[in-house]
Amino acid sequence: MTDYTTILVEQRGRVGWITLNRPEALNALNSTLVSELAHAASVFDADEQIGAIVLTGSARAFAAGADIKEMADKTPVEMSLRNPFAGLEEFSRVRTPVVAAVAGYALGGGCELAMTCDIILAADTATFGQPEINLGVIPGLGGTQRLTRAVGYYKAAELVLTGRTMDATEAERAGLVSRVVPAGDLLAEAERVAEAIASKSLPVAYAAKEALRASQETTAAEGLRFERALFTSLFALDDQKEGMAAFREKRAANFTHR
Ligand code: CAA
Repeated sequence: MTDYTTILVEQRGRVGWITLNRPEALNALNSTLVSELAHAASVFDADEQIGAIVLTGSARAFAAGADIKEMADKTPVEMSLRNPFAGLEEFSRVRTPVVAAVAGYALGGGCELAMTCDIILAADTATFGQPEINLGVIPGLGGTQRLTRAVGYYKAAELVLTGRTMDATEAERAGLVSRVVPAGDLLAEAERVAEAIASKSLPVAYAAKEALRASQETTAAEGLRFERALFTSLFALDDQKEGMAAFREKRAANFTHR
């Protein structure tokens, strides 16, 4: 499955790019897009030549949410047995670090998709929110959980309960976005960040992501134990020896991803 119809996929150096491409629907997440996204990400994830993934949309929309038209007439049984969003679970579990480069609307499932990534860079045109309550539903792809962890209960509660959206500056202040850049610089900045990650040791980047993820999913005590075990295990890698030797020898490290 490489003849994608709703996404564009490209490899540039050690960075895999996935661009959501349903302009007629502001990149709304229909079942085709979700499964193509999961597939493309899993192909990059299985490729040792890829050290980071950038996920982006268009200047107008990162993604305006789950596809309301596709979803509107579904029954609970259809939503659960033929879960159209199953691929997002898969996407959220890729080991490779993912940078979301968000311009325009990141609403509902679009905001939730950005929150499955590891770093969110925002253009100054970006708008974030969970407006599902206006449609008679609640967020269903992690909005009540990941947004709460990102911006705190009270800010998340206001956004989820009122459906109000926030601009990029507010999202950065709240801690959802790591940096806001002028719209014209967004992709170049995402490339710089992704290349910086991809220049590190791949197994070490995987370990860092795994430990970071644990912080969102477990208790602090469990997370600290997990982090220590991972940290210790990294001393078995050639890249740990190389990284520390390079420091002592005052040169750049040459990681071999082993
Ligand atoms: N699903 C399906 N189609 C969508 C869509 C969505 N989420 N968002 C936009 N579109 C479509 C519009 O229907 C329109 O198509 P037509 O021209 O064929 O009617 C096209 O994209 C352009 O959209 P607009 O004309 O509405 O553009 P606008 O600039 O006037 O408004 C907007 C932009 C404010 C983002 C508005 O489109 C909007 O409110 N979209 C819905 C946002 C939303 O409610 N998202 C949450 C979805 S539910 C969800 O995500 C559930 C979950 O957690 C799993």
